[in-house]
Amino acid sequence: MEPDPIPSTAAPGKAPSSREPSAAEAASPPRRTSPADMVRFAKHLWSSEVNRAAVDRLAPENGEHLLDLGAGLGPASFHAAARVGALGSVTAIDPSRFMRAVMFARRPFRSNRRRIRIRDAVAEALPVADRSIDAVVGLNVVHLLADPESSASELARVVRPGGRILFVEEDIDDPGHVFHQPTPHSPDGPGLDELVTALERGGFDVETAHHTHFGGQPVNTITAATGR
Ligand SMILES: C[S@@+](CC[C@H](N)C(=O)[O-])C[C@H]1O[C@@H](n2cnc3c(N)ncnc32)[C@H](O)[C@@H]1O
Repeated sequence: MEPDPIPSTAAPGKAPSSREPSAAEAASPPRRTSPADMVRFAKHLWSSEVNRAAVDRLAPENGEHLLDLGAGLGPASFHAAARVGALGSVTAIDPSRFMRAVMFARRPFRSNRRRIRIRDAVAEALPVADRSIDAVVGLNVVHLLADPESSASELARVVRPGGRILFVEEDIDDPGHVFHQPTPHSPDGPGLDELVTALERGGFDVETAHHTHFGGQPVNTITAATGR
């Protein structure tokens, strides 16, 4: 498919003039990172409406096996674990020792802890069996992928026929994002367009690739599926 254009920023509101702040400034005045901002950001990493909305969009069912790519502190994994039932599972992969340590520390407090597997891995080399995964979520990880092609071929190996994939990148360049900063954010890593191409080469049907809102925040997303 032809992906929809993915703007790096959206700038609603009036065009800027020399006497008025730009739309970006008006929506989010420049601010220093205060302790309150840091606390809000930490809470966002711990559990956010964006992560919840992403899992809800995937609509995990009882007995399904989910894969969370670049799970971070585990916001999507812990939410998903509540949705897959006793026979389901969530495999949370992350190459960061710190992130995994926090997930390990969180897990004992969850009644569904046995459903959550935490693995030291990257998307380019997945520690899961062929065709064993029903659904994949990757939140804020696309720009960190070392190799979108290898990631897509690993996904093609592990996702079962009829499986589904959702990538979500929060768009902090959009003035509507809660953590928007006026300075443009330009990650060095791959963009979503590159991953769309890799997924299509890997045999996935890319259903959507566009700018939208999840959990009240502006995001860029890719949804894809395998054939049955
Ligand atoms: C920005 S954090 C996002 C965490 C979480 N998904 C969220 O939205 O809160 C990205 C995570 O991806 C991990 N990561 C980096 N490179 C990766 C790769 N090649 N494959 C999988 N995860 C990766 C990082 O260690 C980090 O924890």
